[in-house]
Amino acid sequence: MHLSLAVLSVALAAVLSLAPHTSDAPPRTPDAKRGLALLQHFNDSLPRNRGNALRCTSCHLEDGRRGSAMSWIGVTTRFPKYRARRGSVETLEQRVNECVARSLSGRMLADDGASMRDIVAYMESLGRAPLPARPDTVRLAGDTLRGALAYASSCARCHGSNGGGALAPAVYGARSYSIGAGMARQHVLATFLRWNMPQDRPGSLDAQKAADIAAFVLRQPRTDHPGKERDWPNGDAPSDVAYATAGARTTGRPLPAVRPLLRRQVAPVPATSR
Ligand code: HEC
Ligand code: HEC
Repeated sequence: MHLSLAVLSVALAAVLSLAPHTSDAPPRTPDAKRGLALLQHFNDSLPRNRGNALRCTSCHLEDGRRGSAMSWIGVTTRFPKYRARRGSVETLEQRVNECVARSLSGRMLADDGASMRDIVAYMESLGRAPLPARPDTVRLAGDTLRGALAYASSCARCHGSNGGGALAPAVYGARSYSIGAGMARQHVLATFLRWNMPQDRPGSLDAQKAADIAAFVLRQPRTDHPGKERDWPNGDAPSDVAYATAGARTTGRPLPAVRPLLRRQVAPVPATSR
């Protein structure tokens, strides 16, 4: 009995000591500096995952520190959490990949890959508190015609007269964020504009003008997000979502007008990128 136990434990020790040699190299320590570089230069650094002309910090301004621009300060403490869009609990890695697939119209990263771990390490390095104050949400309806005029006078010089980007990245068209992005919602875009744009004069647009410009920008074509009809599976899609969901159909609420959609460069499915 004693002998067989001893033999077993020797055999077990041998197996355990062999185990590390048979698997991949041990994961290196997550690198917050590389994480920030990926957030700033996503397309150059991760060409297999790139979709459009944006980078993460095109929207998450000041490297994710600006309170009015979806700050990442403390975000590692806010996840995992329940999200109505998915209808279940979401991890931070899944949330990052939602922005990869929807906001960058790109291909998701491996949840446990080195790039994802570096990105999360950067977010962790921002500290946990205090969370910058979130600005008031702009919920006004917008007027598309007034928005077109205001876009031409306040935005076109940086984002291009056709929305395709110039000094600043695209805000509509094939190189912009997909229809499944948070920024493709009227209230989310209007609020972002009200507090952050024009970049050289943030705060100068009043709420109505921000709403008008958002309404104009969101009537223009942008890339599709396959599977978007499965969002908000419990039928609780916010009123400013730009597409019909299966959940909303069952509640009998009015469906949004159909928007012009463009083909994506890459499918959003996960890849084994590092
Ligand atoms: C087109 C603009 C845009 C781009 C580009 C973008 N995001 Fe986002 N992101 C948003 C918006 C808008 C939200 C909040 C959406 C909402 O209202 O739920 C958000 C939310 C997040 C959150 C959750 C924040 C929280 O506190 O809940 C994380 C994490 C995040 N983004 C990471 C990224 C990463 C990483 C990238 C690049 C791969 C990226 N985002 C690119 C617009 C963008
Ligand atoms: C002085 C130049 C400038 C003006 C004018 C300007 N922006 Fe921007 N905008 C930027 C820059 C630069 C960024 C990206 C910040 C970065 O990458 O660091 C940006 C980011 C954005 C984003 C998020 C990224 C994207 O491309 O979708 C949106 C949306 C946006 N601007 C819309 C507008 C709208 C609408 C107006 C007019 C009210 C406007 N901007 C005026 C320079 C400008």
